[in-house]
Amino acid sequence: MSRIWNFSAGPAALPEEVLRQAQEELLDWHGAGCSVMEMSHRGKEFGTILGQAEADLRELMGIPEQYKVLFLQGGATQQFAQIPMNLLAGRSADYIVTGSWSKKAFKEAQRIGNVRCAATTESSGFARLPVAEEIKLDPFAAYLHVCTNETIHGVEIPAERIADTGVPLVADMSSHILSRPVNVEKFGLIYAGAQKNIGPSGVTLVVVHRDLLGMAPLNIPTVMDYAVMAENGQRRKSTNFVFRHR
Ligand SMILES: Cc1ncc(COP(=O)(O)O)c(C=O)c1O
Repeated sequence: MSRIWNFSAGPAALPEEVLRQAQEELLDWHGAGCSVMEMSHRGKEFGTILGQAEADLRELMGIPEQYKVLFLQGGATQQFAQIPMNLLAGRSADYIVTGSWSKKAFKEAQRIGNVRCAATTESSGFARLPVAEEIKLDPFAAYLHVCTNETIHGVEIPAERIADTGVPLVADMSSHILSRPVNVEKFGLIYAGAQKNIGPSGVTLVVVHRDLLGMAPLNIPTVMDYAVMAENGQRRKSTNFVFRHR
């Protein structure tokens, strides 16, 4: 059997041993008598799989206790809307536009509320990062959004350029997450579609500081509210959300 070399931005190539384990467990996952694709998403077996996935991710990324790990649907593209829905709370947010993905995130956020472009390198064809003098930050912004690796334009923000600006930093890490150590504590929220660096498509990772939960207005759909997702945790039930009264 010859396996192809995959240099695409996604979906990610999976290690052969992972594929072999999945193959071995496909007919009968750990004595459950069925595969992961057939078991109840509310059952204890799937709860165990999710719990292990979260524990592994916490260990790999060094995610501290005060951060919630959410496994969501909708891709990173859904986060372009879900982030302002949850975090704007009637305020304004800043976006640094360094390529096509952060530009998309900014445009989508404009549909939700008041957002500012704090810097853009579009006039230079997104060929570089903005220099400090080009970045005009709002010290009262609800958050500052960056894309730490622009998959199409190839612009990456090195870890040493990630500074504390006094507002929560929100980062799209879709195409370089888990490729190097990251200091999670520098960020308010990290998100990534799984299909680039982690595994197959269909799940989106959101790592969010607890302080940023519970800010969503009551008129957003329940499934879009990070706090509801975090409260329901791994065993969340699609038909039985915990509704919060505010
Ligand atoms: C940096 C970045 N952000 C967002 C996206 C969109 O992700 P998704 O396809 O999961 O919506 C992609 C890739 O497609 C990407 O590379």
